[in-house]
Amino acid sequence: MFKWRENFSCNIKEVDKQHKYLFQLGENLHNIIKTKDGLDHYDEIMAIFKELEEYTIYHFDYEERLMEKYNVSDIEAHKEEHNLFVERIKEIQSQDVDLRQDKVVMDTLMFIADWIEKHILKSDHKYKDFLNEKGVY
Ligand SMILES: [Fe+2]
Ligand SMILES: [Fe+2]
Repeated sequence: MFKWRENFSCNIKEVDKQHKYLFQLGENLHNIIKTKDGLDHYDEIMAIFKELEEYTIYHFDYEERLMEKYNVSDIEAHKEEHNLFVERIKEIQSQDVDLRQDKVVMDTLMFIADWIEKHILKSDHKYKDFLNEKGVY
C-alpha cells in the first residue's frame, strides 16, 4: 500500500530518509489489519500511533529549520499544514481505539495516503528545486 517510488523523492537525502520512514509506518500499520487474524492488535496499533507522533515532531522540526535556514517562501503556510497533521494524529490517539481498531486504522491509512499525495508530493516538492539550487541535497 505504501510503496516508495522515485518520484516521491525531494532529492534531499535526509528528507527522503524521513519520508521513507513514514511510508514504513504506514506499511506496518497496514500489515496489522491486513492479516485479519481476529486477534487483538491494540498494543501494536497504539505503538505505531506513538511512533507517528514522534515522527511528526522530529520530521517537521527538521524540515521547518531547513526551510528557515534557506529562507524558503511560504514557510508559514507550510507550518500550518504540519500543525494540522499533528492535530489529526493527536485526535486519532485520543479516540476510543480499542473497540474500533479496524475502523481507526483504516481512517489513519487513508489520512497518511492523503498526506503523501497532498503534502509530500505537493507542498514538500515545492521547496525541492529551490533547495537543490542552493546546494542542499
Ligand atoms: Fe515532509
Ligand atoms: Fe512538509
